[in-house]
This record gives sequence, structure tokens and C-alpha cells, in this order.
Amino acid sequence: MAKIIAMMNQKGGVGKTTSSVNLAACLAVAEKKTLLIDLDPQGNGSISIGLSKDKFAGKNIYHALIGQIGLKEAIYESELPYFDICPSDNNLSGAEIELVSLFARESKLKNAFKAIEKDYDYIIIDCPPSLGLLTVNALNAAHSYIVPMQTEFLAMEGLAQLLNTVKLIRSSLNPDLELDGILLTMYDSRSGLHKQVVNEIKTHFGDVVFNTIIPRNVKLAECPSFGKPIILYDIESKGSEAYLALAKELILKERFKGNSKENSKETSAKNNGSSSVAQEIKLPEEELLDIIPGLETINFDGIQI
Ligand SMILES: Nc1ncnc2c1ncn2[C@@H]1O[C@H](COP(=O)(O)OP(=O)(O)OP(=O)(O)O)[C@@H](O)[C@H]1O
Ligand SMILES: [Mg+2]
Repeated sequence: MAKIIAMMNQKGGVGKTTSSVNLAACLAVAEKKTLLIDLDPQGNGSISIGLSKDKFAGKNIYHALIGQIGLKEAIYESELPYFDICPSDNNLSGAEIELVSLFARESKLKNAFKAIEKDYDYIIIDCPPSLGLLTVNALNAAHSYIVPMQTEFLAMEGLAQLLNTVKLIRSSLNPDLELDGILLTMYDSRSGLHKQVVNEIKTHFGDVVFNTIIPRNVKLAECPSFGKPIILYDIESKGSEAYLALAKELILKERFKGNSKENSKETSAKNNGSSSVAQEIKLPEEELLDIIPGLETINFDGIQI
């Protein structure tokens, strides 16, 4: 059964699509069968892996969401084995309005996944830069989410709103939704400000931040115009190294989580399910929301973020 991950941040241009495409491709080279869902009407993910718009104009995520076709019919192979994509184009912007009147409008994607989730190890959803119905569908369908965050001035602007949305989804639609982590992107090691932003975010958010930091790398900006993920465009680039490291980190995290779940099952069996057994840890969103107000007032060389 696939692990379904939503790549989300309502802020534009923070690296959601770059991270979705390249993480998916790197999971695929690790022989994890991976499906990329392009859930953004901009269709940048679809173009980034070289699919021609004519090929999928009649069958894509839009048609699957409004129930015209099954999701399987909207899936296309990529150049890489183990890597498929369900593309989108600007028709999808209409879906947000069309879905409003439909029954169970927040669960369209979740229901569509039922037919295909057993075929994949990972499904990565590239969300649009908004917290609208498409992102709600993604968070309802997902097991977890990743928040790409640019290591920049005002990096955390909007994070409280994002976490509050997630809290709402957890309480109403998807109680098991987990945070995989905050992914720092477009990091420039020569910039003092970037270093400070990374230090502050890591100090305050700790384990919630991925160890892998995605550097600013011109090859990552170039490869979409060649219709290739970074590992097919330049395997030796810093961008390739970073996304391969991210895929590895994610796979290991998953394995570790699997083991600790097994261990806690054993512990609770030993304790006969007594109430003294430690309950699940506090929701990460709650903790992060507690931290953010403090962080908002931190000064970086006189600049506030
Ligand atoms: N690590 C990086 N190094 C250099 N350029 C990058 C990097 N990551 C992303 N970019 C470039 O920054 C721009 C924005 O990235 P991307 O499209 O991935 O962001 P996004 O969050 O998906 O944007 P949107 O909110 O519009 O969907 C793109 O031109 C992309 O090529
Ligand atoms: Mg995008």
C-alpha cells in the first residue's frame, strides 16, 4: 500500500514542484514504485518531466477528480522506470468551483486513490499555492505532508495559517495525518542570512526539520525546461545529491517509524494494554504553533523574520 505524501505550502515559489518531481524521481531510482500527482492547475510538474500537454489534455487529474474517468486512465509513464505521473493543466482551476456542489467534495482524491494505491510504494502530491479545496483534497487523501520552506527573509510568514488548516483537517477529516517534516530549500551557503535562518529554524523546530537541506542550484532551475528530473539532467549536481539524500532520509525515517510502531505494539502487549503505556506524542502542529510567535520576533542582524 502506498505512502501518500502531500507537498504543501500556500506560499508560492518555495520549491513544492521542484521537490515533488525530484523527490519522486529519486524514490523511483531507489526502486520504489512512485506516482507523482500534479494537483496544481499551473501544470508545472507535468511539464517538468517532459509530458506534452496534447498527450494528456483529454485524460488527466481533472477528469479523474470530477469522476469522468478512473484515476488509472489518467496515469502516464515517465522516462524512468518505477516513476509514473498523473498530470494536470489549467482545466483543473475549474475543478475547484465544480467540486463545490458535489457530494463528499473533500474526498474526491481520497476515493480516486482506492483503485491505484496498492500499485505504488509512494504517491507524492504536488499541491497548488493555496489552501483551497484542491489542497484540502490532498491533505484528506494523504498519510503525511512535507512543507518546503525557502531559507529566506519572511520564511515563516503564513506558517501559522498552514498549521491551523492542517489542525482543522485532522480534527474533521483525517485524524491520522502526520507531518513528515519541514524541508528547507534554495539554501545559499554563502549567504549569512540563509545561515541564520537555517540555524534559527533548526534550533526551534528541531527534529521536525529534515536534515537534508536543498541548496540553491542552477541545474535544478534548468532541468524543467529540458523535461527531465535532476537525476536525468545532471546526476553529479548538488541538486541531484540533495534530492537523493532526501529520498534516503525519507525511506529511513519510514523504516524507523515502522520499527518503533512494532516495538510499541510489543510493549503494549507486554503491559496488557494498561493505561500506563505512553500515549502517542503531542501533535507536532500544536508544538510548532506554540513556538512560532516567539520566532516571529527573532532578529536576524536587525531584520525581523
Ligand atoms: N533549489 C533550487 N535552486 C534553484 N532554483 C530553484 C530551486 N528550487 C526551485 N527553484 C526554482 O524556483 C522557482 C520556484 O520553484 P517551484 O516551482 O518548485 O516552487 P513552487 O512552490 O512549486 O511554486 P508554485 O507555488 O508557483 O507552485 C522555479 O523557477 C524553480 O525552478
Ligand atoms: Mg508548484
